[in-house]
Amino acid sequence: PRQISQPKDTFHFKQVNTIKSNLATYSTGHLNKKHKIEQRNRTSKTEQQTIVLKLNPELGALETDLCIDYLCSPLAHHFAILWASVGNTVPACFWVLYFLLRDSEALEAVRQEVLEVLRLSGGKFSPEEDLTLSREQLDSMVLLESSISEGLRLSSVSTNIRVSQEDFSLRLNEERSASVRKGDMIALYPQSMHMDPDIYQDPQSFRYDRFVQDGRVKTDFYKSGQKLKFFLMPFGSGASMCPGRYFAVNEIKQFLSLVLLYLDLDLQPGQNRVSLDYSRAGLGILLPDADVRFHYRLRAASQSPAE
Ligand code: HEM
Repeated sequence: PRQISQPKDTFHFKQVNTIKSNLATYSTGHLNKKHKIEQRNRTSKTEQQTIVLKLNPELGALETDLCIDYLCSPLAHHFAILWASVGNTVPACFWVLYFLLRDSEALEAVRQEVLEVLRLSGGKFSPEEDLTLSREQLDSMVLLESSISEGLRLSSVSTNIRVSQEDFSLRLNEERSASVRKGDMIALYPQSMHMDPDIYQDPQSFRYDRFVQDGRVKTDFYKSGQKLKFFLMPFGSGASMCPGRYFAVNEIKQFLSLVLLYLDLDLQPGQNRVSLDYSRAGLGILLPDADVRFHYRLRAASQSPAE
């Protein structure tokens, strides 16, 4: 094992703050005076070593070294990307499908939209053949998109953490603001907005068409009469906003389109409703707290739009 550059018992308070700030900067990005988020700094390997040591004071040299290798290795980055791309998308697919299966009107409306989009573009669908959906076709599925937004609203429990680079006053609403000092960490919790009954009527309910207005994607949401710029934040915000968000939504749209076209699905009766498992709260889309049993069968060719 390599030598550790700094023994664990020589930390001073100032260093601890720097480390905390570096770690947060390394992993989240930061705010500047105008609330504009800048490109994050990359920490050096020595700094990472220091961070790991401070966060894990009980770690010995070898374990610390392994952590450093983990932080620095390209494999770790691949793993992080794998987690980012799959860890949230899969449970997001689950929730949207589950909510649709619980609401037969919603399920049928979304299925009809997919069939109609295919019909309009002359697409041919047969249970025996592969189906390719174009970007334009996916873009025109507004009910499906709304169902996905609604599923993300209900199941995403991300925390967006930022470190202030300057003293500033963070405006919360017309009357209230909070003084933030340079170096303070701020945790934004979009779920409190997603569940705000002033913004979303009956916020606990899944309404598949909540994000549709006059056949288009709805973007008008208000709080206390004020139009909101940010009303749905499952993908975070600012410079570190999820770069995979368009990919993710299109991926979920494709998966659900195919499932609805190819399969008839029913929830098995007599099951309790599943809820969110909060054991990984703060980290994206939550998993369900129990398994869900369902029946499925291949849809007949006569139900395809080409028939
Ligand atoms: C439903 C699916 C997804 C959800 C809910 C989601 C959510 C998030 C959130 C909340 C963040 C942090 C944003 C912030 O700090 O403000 C993030 C970051 C990130 N996501 Fe996603 N994500 C999803 C899918 C994906 C996919 C498919 C990819 C890649 C193909 C991806 C790649 C990333 C990366 C690389 C980051 C780090 C960005 C940075 O720190 O600059 N995500 N995601």
